[in-house]
Amino acid sequence: MVKLGVNLDHVATIRQQRYTPYPDMLTAIKISEESGADSITMHLREDRRHIQFEDIKIARKNIKTKLNLEMAPTQEMCEIANQIKPDFICIVPEKRQELTTEGGLDVKKNFDSIKNVVTNLGDSGALISLFIEPDEKVIDLAKKLNVDAIELHTGKYAEAKDVNKEFYINQIRIAADYANKLSLVVNAGHGLDYTNVKEIARINHIRELNIGHSIIAESIFLGLAEAIKKMKNLIENI
Ligand code: PXP
Repeated sequence: MVKLGVNLDHVATIRQQRYTPYPDMLTAIKISEESGADSITMHLREDRRHIQFEDIKIARKNIKTKLNLEMAPTQEMCEIANQIKPDFICIVPEKRQELTTEGGLDVKKNFDSIKNVVTNLGDSGALISLFIEPDEKVIDLAKKLNVDAIELHTGKYAEAKDVNKEFYINQIRIAADYANKLSLVVNAGHGLDYTNVKEIARINHIRELNIGHSIIAESIFLGLAEAIKKMKNLIENI
C-alpha cells in the first residue's frame, strides 16, 4: 500500500505570517499521525520562511512515525541534519526567489557537491533521498551517488493540461520502474492534490507520496484530521 507523508510546512507558513504562537506545530503533528500520516515532512529553508529550527527539534522529540527532513545541499543543513538525526532526508534544490521547490536537483551539474553532502550526512543515520526529475539518466547518477532513495518530481504532471497528463504520467511510470530495478526506494511528490493523486498512487513501486499544500488548504474547510483521512482514503483505494 502506498504511504502518505504529510508535509506540514504550510502550518508554519500561517504562523510565520504574523509570528504568532499558533497554529501549534506539535498539535499539527499529533493530529496528522492520528489521522493516518505515515511520516511527517518538514523543509527547513535557508530563509526560514516557514519551518524553524525549533519545529524540527519539537518534531524529532515527538514524532512517533518518521521524520522526513527536506534540505538544500549545504554545509549548514548537513550540520543540522547530523544533529537532529531525522529518519529520512530528502535533498532538494533551493532558490530564494521561488514560491516553492521548482523542480528536481540538477544532479549532473552539481554531482561533486551533492556527493560531498551525501558523504557529510553519514552521521545522520537517515535514509537519504534525492528529489529528481523522472529521467533515467538522473536516476543513474543518483545510483552512482549511493543514495537509498529518490523522490520523483510530480510537479510537471500536476501542472499539465489534460492532453499532456498521459505523457508525464508515463515518464513517472518508466522512471519508477527503472529506479526499482536499480534497487532504489521510490517516493514521489509535489503539486499532488485530491483530483490528481490517484493516477500517481496507482504507479508500481512508489512507496510514499509527500503531500503538503493541498492537504493544508483542504483543512481550512474540513479540519486537518479529515483532510488527511480524505487523502489517505484516495491513495489507499486505487
Ligand atoms: N516533495 C518535495 C521534495 C517538496 O519540496 C515539496 C514541497 O515542499 C513537496 C513534496 C510537497 O509539495 P506540495 O506542497 O505541492 O504537496
